[in-house]
Amino acid sequence: MKSQEDLKRAVAAAAIEHVPVGTIVGVGTGSTANFFVDELAKIKSKIDGTVASSVASAKRLESHGIRVLDLNSVDEISVYVDGADEANSHLHLVKGGGGALTREKIVAAVARKFVCIADESKLVDILGAFPLPIEVIPMARSYVAREIVKLGGQPVLRDGFVTDNGNVILDVRNFSIVDPVGLEKTLNNLVGVVTNGLFAQRPADVLLLGTQNGVRALNR
Ligand code: A5P
Repeated sequence: MKSQEDLKRAVAAAAIEHVPVGTIVGVGTGSTANFFVDELAKIKSKIDGTVASSVASAKRLESHGIRVLDLNSVDEISVYVDGADEANSHLHLVKGGGGALTREKIVAAVARKFVCIADESKLVDILGAFPLPIEVIPMARSYVAREIVKLGGQPVLRDGFVTDNGNVILDVRNFSIVDPVGLEKTLNNLVGVVTNGLFAQRPADVLLLGTQNGVRALNR
């Protein structure tokens, strides 16, 4: 029986096959992305550099001697590799459990290809059992929370947490997300919301799932 860590390590290794030689690679955040960083270190001489989706990932990349670039100095990212908190069969994702959702969404938007890596426990029929993270400008926290209640959600302020962008996170329970694209847009339209953890307008292109029988690939 492979452990969850084994499954994460296996998908991280499989993602290396999606990294084109001589390009800039987008790197996600979280425990699965950390395994990818460790794998990327083995081929660091074959890539031009990386763009990180968080301060934590930038530090990990740099500790391996991997070049980290500012997104504004980069024209193109060939591939973005990151984990997820939930994924459905359309490769719509919930992300942001680690609080890095905004930078993750920016890097995913720039990347030509988004490869999501996860252990099989992350695949669900309907998104929403994992509380949906929403990054909010601090002064709008109460207003946004009230608006979310009107939409049927139960927002909880992530205690003592400040994002890399200086904002707060509301984790929203009780959303059964049958229309991920619609809800992503609705939440983004609330004044004070920086971004939300639904990655549906820009889903993953490939989902690599770590299973007991090996790595399973789902394509969009
Ligand atoms: C970070 O903000 C998240 O979006 C992560 O991608 C997500 O939480 C997955 O993390 P793990 O790989 O640790 O499960």
